[in-house]
Amino acid sequence: MKDTLILAIESSCDETAASVVKNGRTILSNVISSQIELHKLYGGVVPEIASRKHIEKVNQVIEEALKDADVTLDDLDAIGVTYGPGLVGALLVGVAEAKAIAYAKKLPLVGVHHIEGHVSANYIEHPDLEPPFLCLIVSGGHTHLVIVKDYGEFEILGRTRDDAAGEAFDKVARAIGLGYPGGPKIDKLSKEGNSEAIVFPRAKIGDCPYDFSFSGVKSAVLNYINQAQMKGEEVNRADLAASFQKAVVDVLVEHTMLAAKDYSMDKIAIAGGVASNGTLRAAMEKACAQNGYKFYRPSPIFCTDNAAMIGVAAYYEYMKGTRHGWDLNAVPNLKL
Ligand code: KG4
Ligand code: ZN
Repeated sequence: MKDTLILAIESSCDETAASVVKNGRTILSNVISSQIELHKLYGGVVPEIASRKHIEKVNQVIEEALKDADVTLDDLDAIGVTYGPGLVGALLVGVAEAKAIAYAKKLPLVGVHHIEGHVSANYIEHPDLEPPFLCLIVSGGHTHLVIVKDYGEFEILGRTRDDAAGEAFDKVARAIGLGYPGGPKIDKLSKEGNSEAIVFPRAKIGDCPYDFSFSGVKSAVLNYINQAQMKGEEVNRADLAASFQKAVVDVLVEHTMLAAKDYSMDKIAIAGGVASNGTLRAAMEKACAQNGYKFYRPSPIFCTDNAAMIGVAAYYEYMKGTRHGWDLNAVPNLKL
């Protein structure tokens, strides 16, 4: 059978990325141009700067992805692109680019939900993984606990009521002067700290046991820092980072295990930028082993934003017959 080759483009936030994916699960290339160095100066992503950088980089990134995969535009079967959620100006760059290529080459255009992409990252290195399974999605903008019922088909069991998990990491990191992006920095600093040193609250949501809330733990960290400053005491940043991280990870694992039990799911996956967190990966692996569940997680490079995951999701959408027209637009608040 002829191979199906998809060129995927991702530009929803601060990574300009392109990838060529063969038959849904084989990544022929995965090029990511990160803007972190630019946004670091401002302590977070500046939307206009992100859009401007995407427009500068997008052709170069695609060219490199085609070259690494040793294919040309003529070999492709479809173009996949993230069309939401994300920053509108950033998304528009990828969408316009994908449309231009699809139009010029008369190729089908497949718009992809960014979060569907994150979940699909799990298919890359786990050939045995097929729906249904339970997936914890933890990124900078989203925290969802979902049952993946089929490819691209989700039942949402829980979500955050306030901050996303990654957002909490970023805000706490900023408060202790670690800079942007905070998640990886807290992950690293925590290794030198004692996670039992400070007890931060673990929020429970009465009416939905699978929902999350991270604003309480974030406020508790900020209060802890303020009180230490008022008393003229030095904050042990490593202990604080480790204790905060433990509080977040405990809740993520606990809710996931509860949902797995309640819904009789024995395959558990994690996805999104925070899924590259070492403590979360280890804790989830341990909990899954204790409960006899099979645990799946993408390599860290496929957890944070990339186009390979978009190519995988685009493939399954393409096989289902999803096609977008020339009116495809960026949808910044696209629902799952
Ligand atoms: O999935 P992602 O790359 O972009 C979004 O779709 O949001 O996630 C980015 C988020 C940021 O908040 C970043 O701080 C967090 O993921 N993150 C981490 C780690 N690496 C990235 N959080 C905790 N530990 C990490 N190692
Ligand atoms: Zn993402």
